[in-house]
Amino acid sequence: MLTRNSIEGKVAIVTGASKGIGKAIAGVFAKSGAKVVLAARTRKVVEQVAYDLKETGADVLAIPTDVTNVDAVQSLITETLDVYQRLDILINNAGAGVFGNVIDYDHTDWDTVINSNLKGVFLCSKFALPHLIADGGGQIINVLSIAAKVPFPASGAYCAAKAGALALTKVLAAEVRQQNVRVTAVLPGSVESPFWDDIPEHPDFDKMLKPEHIADAILSVCQQPDSMVTEEIVVMPPLGIL
Ligand SMILES: NC(=O)c1ccc[n+]([C@@H]2O[C@H](COP(=O)([O-])OP(=O)(O)OC[C@H]3O[C@@H](n4cnc5c(N)ncnc54)[C@H](OP(=O)(O)O)[C@@H]3O)[C@@H](O)[C@H]2O)c1
Repeated sequence: MLTRNSIEGKVAIVTGASKGIGKAIAGVFAKSGAKVVLAARTRKVVEQVAYDLKETGADVLAIPTDVTNVDAVQSLITETLDVYQRLDILINNAGAGVFGNVIDYDHTDWDTVINSNLKGVFLCSKFALPHLIADGGGQIINVLSIAAKVPFPASGAYCAAKAGALALTKVLAAEVRQQNVRVTAVLPGSVESPFWDDIPEHPDFDKMLKPEHIADAILSVCQQPDSMVTEEIVVMPPLGIL
């Protein structure tokens, strides 16, 4: 039987950690003894999530960050190192969805979706990598979507962003494997979260995954021994695409 790695004491940045999947990841990692840096744009919300985790004895830090902004991402990494002196795991989870057919789609929504889901992964990875490498290696987990592979109508920007982020994940994995950085793409199906708040015709919440399912899958990947890498996982509700 393989010995699983512990994440206790490891320093993990989770983007989009104020709600839904990212909040669940932050909670599961903090409970497993990781030092967790929670990043999201809305200060009040991300600080409240961090406060609640601290009340349980967790070692966490909230750093309000827009992952599409280069200065903000650099500050996220710098402040993390100032407080914890190292970085072991980056979980690129932040992302937004705005849906509509291409013919009606607003070009500013295109920028929002592409920047949050694709540029954000690039920026956070770029500025985290030198430190992951300097600390002997680490892990980058990119929370993408089954939309990276399945063409859902009215989801042009979202599918393009996630497919692009999947390609970026594979390129990154090839670039940094020699430096002991293991890179994983996580492709969830539908998950019950605030992501669906502005989408009136969403699938049945009862049939969706819960954020904790994705958090548990990511924790498992981060507990795998250094002698293996899981490059891609697809996590679906039992009924598949809803
Ligand atoms: N829910 C699903 O069915 C589903 C399925 C497959 C994949 N996913 C993916 O899983 C990830 C998390 O989704 P979710 O369902 O948890 O969504 P959610 O509940 O809407 O949460 C999104 C999180 O990302 C943050 N965020 C959005 N834009 C950001 C930006 N530019 N910079 C920093 N933080 C940003 C939000 O906080 P602020 O708004 O305060 O920044 C929030 O914390 C996304 O990448 C999504 O595409 C979701």
